Amino acid sequence: MKEIRVADHMKFVKKSAIRQLVDSAPADAINLGLGEIQFPLPEFLKQKAAEIINFKNIGYSTNAGLIELRKAICDYYQCEFNDNVCITAGAEEALFAALFSYINKGDEVLIANPTFLAYKTIVEMLGAKVSSFSLDPQNEFALNENSLRIAITDKTKAMILCNPSNPLGIALNDHEIDLIIDICRKNKILIIVDEVYRELFLDERSRSFLDTDLDTIIISSLSKSHCMSGWRIGWAISQKSELIAPIIKTHQYICTCAPVISQFLALEALSIEGMQAKEEIRIKLAENRKFAIDYLSNANIEFLLNSSSPYLFVKVNGDDWKVAEALSKMGVIVIPGSAFGSNGKGFVRINYGIESDKLSKSIIILAKFQKEIIL
Ligand SMILES: Cc1ncc(COP(=O)(O)O)c(C=O)c1O
Repeated sequence: MKEIRVADHMKFVKKSAIRQLVDSAPADAINLGLGEIQFPLPEFLKQKAAEIINFKNIGYSTNAGLIELRKAICDYYQCEFNDNVCITAGAEEALFAALFSYINKGDEVLIANPTFLAYKTIVEMLGAKVSSFSLDPQNEFALNENSLRIAITDKTKAMILCNPSNPLGIALNDHEIDLIIDICRKNKILIIVDEVYRELFLDERSRSFLDTDLDTIIISSLSKSHCMSGWRIGWAISQKSELIAPIIKTHQYICTCAPVISQFLALEALSIEGMQAKEEIRIKLAENRKFAIDYLSNANIEFLLNSSSPYLFVKVNGDDWKVAEALSKMGVIVIPGSAFGSNGKGFVRINYGIESDKLSKSIIILAKFQKEIIL
């Protein structure tokens, strides 16, 4: 039989570094590595989910999603509804659909170093090239303007930003946002901003690019804000419906429509009560953060002070991969910073969105390890 070979673009699809680490850890390891907030679904949403199963007819929705939900998302951003939203199966699908809709083979796409891992893989799967700009580790990971300007060529088509950042837990300041918009507008670069962590702010919600720039596509979801990762609801939104129309077409051929049972629950999540439930998650995360940063500070361990949950970027002694591997054997999973780009070298990312007893146990192990072992 003729050999059956996978498609050439599959060479860019590798098991992520995060998965490899998680899969090799002991079964009872405490996982500070995953991107998920490990709190249960809020009680209010659990009850609403049961009502939806009992009383709603769950068929297909229109490709772009239930109109009530698309309107609720526009209300959330305080923008007008004009067919400018596509509801997707999580932010991940929105990212894929957006990039598939705009990126040609041979295009270049700007991404930050360090940033969320998926962007690079999707860009490369589409036959395009990633061009990185620096968030400067010597300057608390502020945007390095020069490196951004240098990264732009006449092939640059788009930029993907994660704001607030995974893995850094910090958001761009007003100056950085204005500068990015100015540079991208002058060079006709499409800006796509992944804002999945925006609702988990500590003091102040970061500015959405949607309020600032007409030509930006915003990606977000309820996975983090409402602990609804398994319900798979995300969206792409822009002020301009013509920017979203191609994404709706792509989305139709990926999954027809986002899970409708989840779309009904998303409507509840965006209601006043749903947003109150989200507040409880945010407050619980802030309590966990207080424990983590107090403990690390008392142990003289350096970390980047975050402005949004759930990540802390913690400085380590020596090689971050070796530290992560050693910690994993000791029962605590963390992600080496350089998995997110070379500028993350010398750090590990921890997610403090887990139950507090597990958090305290794992932070104690991390601090002890840092004190005693140099790799
Ligand atoms: C920055 C970022 N974007 C997107 C996603 C995917 O989110 P979703 O579950 O909504 O697909 C994640 C998940 O970890 C993430 O960290």
